[in-house]
Amino acid sequence: MLDFTFHNPTTIVFGKTAMDQIAAYSSRYGKKIVLTYGGGSIKKNGIYDKVKAQLARFEVCEFGGIAPNPRVETLRKCVELCKEFQPDLILAVGGGSTIDGSKLISAAARYDGDAWDLVINQIRIENPIPLATVLTLSATGSEMNPGAVITNWTENIKLAYLVSDCYPVFSILDPQNTFSLPQDQTAYGTVDIFSHVLEQYLNQDVHAPIQDRFAEGILLTLIENGPIALKNPNDYDARANLMWASTLALNKLIGAGVPQDWATHGIEHQLSAFYDIPHGAGLAIVTPRWMDEVYPTKLAKFVQYGQRIWGIEAAGEQCARLARQKTFDFFQSLGVRMHLKDWNIDSTHFSVMVERTAGKIGETPLNKDQILRILDACL
Ligand code: NZQ
Ligand code: ZN
Repeated sequence: MLDFTFHNPTTIVFGKTAMDQIAAYSSRYGKKIVLTYGGGSIKKNGIYDKVKAQLARFEVCEFGGIAPNPRVETLRKCVELCKEFQPDLILAVGGGSTIDGSKLISAAARYDGDAWDLVINQIRIENPIPLATVLTLSATGSEMNPGAVITNWTENIKLAYLVSDCYPVFSILDPQNTFSLPQDQTAYGTVDIFSHVLEQYLNQDVHAPIQDRFAEGILLTLIENGPIALKNPNDYDARANLMWASTLALNKLIGAGVPQDWATHGIEHQLSAFYDIPHGAGLAIVTPRWMDEVYPTKLAKFVQYGQRIWGIEAAGEQCARLARQKTFDFFQSLGVRMHLKDWNIDSTHFSVMVERTAGKIGETPLNKDQILRILDACL
């Protein structure tokens, strides 16, 4: 096992009574709250009303309209609002995009320059405004990690901002808040969680069976519960298991002490930077093609994955190839489109994508030829 430091300060309040505790947890930080949200789904499904009822005794300023693949061009407006209003807490209600955008807002509101400087130069802010979340989509793990993935739409750049201590101080996880998710977002979320696990699992074996078994437990949970949630969106247990899987897959637990890859994420972020496709949709397409490219260099883990997750009895390269096909079939069975052409994406921007990622992503950094082969195969 590799050396590691593990630290996670986020309090998780989970379950059917979690929403009733927003006021009590928020009051620990003060009276003034900036409430952030996305395109308005929370006003249709009743979550907004529940949150507002909890915030009745607070001084609240609202900022809606944080779009999927959150854009710095929008976030800057909320940074200005926070600089003027000086909240004690930012409460982000939504999926990864609202939460990530709010993380950057919380840091940039304590910075004199432009918010994008923080991202492009990875500038650390020591005292971001405390941020809390009400999660409405199981996918990113942003509810219990410090990362924010931000898009500069003017320049078609999407980057992770990782350096400030932007862990949410608390996150409200009521699985009922995901009942209203459309089918495609449930599927993309399941793919995203699956991919987070693979990025921290399908690597060189460093004799870390605890991390491996955690990872395998999450993968099996997704394979069982993703289809149930798609068939019956109001199945509490399926939604609860997807939600906890989302959190555990990317809160640093399963990645502690093991090598990590993140090449599929690096390539996907290029796709959504240019084409604004949902993150999980891009991952579903890239992952099997990435597997084709790298399985010979990670063979032992691919075989372990094939045998333990998919029950494949074959060994060696045959097992790895079958495991890749099982992964493809699982994503497809969730109703996700499996080719870039299904999104009207062609090779126009591939050369820029390759330039931006070559030598920077992958457990063993992928070179230009490898990334181009993966992208071509995605078409
Ligand atoms: O905008 P609203 O109206 O809220 O609608 C959203 C949005 O249209 C909708 N939605 C969310 N909860 C809903 C709901 N609709 C009905 N009922 C609900 N309960 O779903 C759509 C997608 O929302 P979004 O927040 O974009 O999805 P997700 O949670 O998948 O977040 C994706 C973003 O997170 C980044 C991605 O790159 C992408 O920008 N990631 C963040 C990570 C992190 N912070 O650690 C890691 C991930 O790998 C990922 O890169
Ligand atoms: Zn992801």
